[in-house]
Amino acid sequence: MVEISTSLLSVKKDNIIKTIYNLETAKTDYFHIDVMDGIFVENNTSEDMLEYCDYLSNITNIPLDVHLMVSDVRKYVDLFLPYNPNIITIHYEAFKDKYELLDMLDYIKLNNCKAGIAIKPNTDISEILDILEVVHIVLVMTVEPGKGGQKLIDRTLNKIKELSDYIKEKKIDIEVEADGGINLDNISEVKEAGVDIVVSGTGIIQAEDCKEVIRNMKR
Ligand code: DX5
Ligand code: ZN
Repeated sequence: MVEISTSLLSVKKDNIIKTIYNLETAKTDYFHIDVMDGIFVENNTSEDMLEYCDYLSNITNIPLDVHLMVSDVRKYVDLFLPYNPNIITIHYEAFKDKYELLDMLDYIKLNNCKAGIAIKPNTDISEILDILEVVHIVLVMTVEPGKGGQKLIDRTLNKIKELSDYIKEKKIDIEVEADGGINLDNISEVKEAGVDIVVSGTGIIQAEDCKEVIRNMKR
């Protein structure tokens, strides 16, 4: 059974409170917080996502799954830690060298938060196999990071399959998360590739009945 992490990226401000209540009723497993700094990716969503985290902390106890698409990682880890996220995921491509990356993962864990590593579609899984033992989550981007509503890139499903086979073979205690362009039409292929958590934004937010969609996604 996969867990669903609903991305709030495409939610407009005047809809956010209602959407949070609807998603809580719909039993999303996580709220996926897409933080963009306008440097690592073109868009800048950090102000909005901080505001949304304020609302979330007053409304719900459903865990936060924070996805940092930023260059100054430490700055944004420190901005979001006060919201006690369950997970903070940082991008492999945001680091010049592995030691910096390992230090940041340690910093996140020392702050009582699960640490995740995200890889873009063109980053091969071979780049991160040696750090799987020190992260809780691997987030495989199934679209180019930077905006919602894109189409899933099919070849990324092979990456997920390769990664999840490796994890099973090595018996590594870690979760695989897929993020981008996932909806009811393609989620079964994503599940077959071998994921534990699925991020969906447009596929859920634009639905008439997000409760129905989330129930069917989990099936
Ligand atoms: C893209 C984000 C994804 C995206 C998911 O950079 O990391 O989380 O917002 O939204 P959809 O499901 O619409 O692709
Ligand atoms: Zn994301």
